[in-house]
Amino acid sequence: MQIRSLVEPARVRREVYTSEDVFALEMERIWGRAWLYVGHESQVKSPGDYITTTMGLTPVVMVRDARSGAINVLVNRCGHRGAMVCEARTGSIDKGVFRCPYHGWTFRADGSLRSQPSPAGYKDVGFDKNNPAFGMPGVPRVEKYRGFIFASLARVGPDLKTFLGEIRETIDNMVDRAPGGEVEVTGKVGHRFRHPANWKFFTENLHDAMHPMVAHAGTSAAVRQYLEQLSQAHGPVPEAEVIAPFGGSYDFFDDMGFVGLPRGHAYMGGKKSIFSHYEVYPDYLKSMEEAHGKERTKEILSFNRHNSLIYPSCTVRDNIQSIRVVIPVSVNETIIESWTFALKGAPPNMLERTLRYSRLVNSPASMVGPDDVNCYVRIQQSAASGAIEWIDMRRHFGREVQDGARTTATGTSDLALRNQYTAWLEYMTDTGERS
Ligand SMILES: [Fe+2]
Repeated sequence: MQIRSLVEPARVRREVYTSEDVFALEMERIWGRAWLYVGHESQVKSPGDYITTTMGLTPVVMVRDARSGAINVLVNRCGHRGAMVCEARTGSIDKGVFRCPYHGWTFRADGSLRSQPSPAGYKDVGFDKNNPAFGMPGVPRVEKYRGFIFASLARVGPDLKTFLGEIRETIDNMVDRAPGGEVEVTGKVGHRFRHPANWKFFTENLHDAMHPMVAHAGTSAAVRQYLEQLSQAHGPVPEAEVIAPFGGSYDFFDDMGFVGLPRGHAYMGGKKSIFSHYEVYPDYLKSMEEAHGKERTKEILSFNRHNSLIYPSCTVRDNIQSIRVVIPVSVNETIIESWTFALKGAPPNMLERTLRYSRLVNSPASMVGPDDVNCYVRIQQSAASGAIEWIDMRRHFGREVQDGARTTATGTSDLALRNQYTAWLEYMTDTGERS
């Protein structure tokens, strides 16, 4: 496959969204190599706690090992016939072992095979119980950054800190916003929102600042009108601060600015986001100042990146404590899972705000999400039918500014898309072995 012929500096071929071969190669060369977000340590607090998810297409289980206390990420398949061992999205292992529902092979939290029924049948047939191939294999690399667990399916590559680079600061800020110095996942499972479209439409739309005024115009107008009526009757409505900013202007988004980083990571804003003008809750401010002092509190709360992208697997909102996880299913199907976090030591109204944001913006019942999905599906259909050959991304092309490892541009520049394809091409054309 001629990967290079699919991507030009300011446009991409339709096949990047529709070809099964391209998708398979992405799973191998991007999702099979990058550090992918798996979960947060608070999801597996007690020994034996586990969650299941996928890394690319590989099903995995993240489990707290009762013996070592370590968090392991195992491939979620039996070493016997390959059946998926654990189907529940979350749980705790009974008697300290996973048990395959097909033939009853059991596995410890480190993935090693513990037992199988009627073991005599495996004598003198070339079976070695200690051979890791018969266990649930550990994912080659697992690392934690401030409570967030990432893993990589490749044996070699940069360490997590190097991989994240400057985008780490988004995670730092989310955690620093907790007076108690930690965040904690709320709820057992995240919202799942099925997108009948290629995974890249979601990551590309994240920093597409030209669409809200058009794609979300209907929602913003209707919401504004409704909120006005409500506030006249009942006083200030808490939903207003979450949903109203979607009516931002072109100038507003341009001023926010875009920062592209190596490996496809990126963020908009820095000091300003459409969600940075929240009224500060006095009791929260007090708890922050008690924990960090006035100066540091000011510094933390004035850091307001708009959406951050940790390419390719998740997007982070530091100032509202939410993460969306990208789960590719096939070339034209993607699950977007969204998680909310509580700030330890913060008053309950901060969590209420986070949940309100999640419900109105990220959940499958979101007021703006369906607008976006509708647009992805329209492109997916055009690309699949051949109605369009090349998909354009030339807005403000050539006007970006290189500043060390960062590439910066005005907020409505298509650099947001081009920066992802720079990384995409690097991953996709790198034929080196990683295992
Ligand atoms: Fe949108």
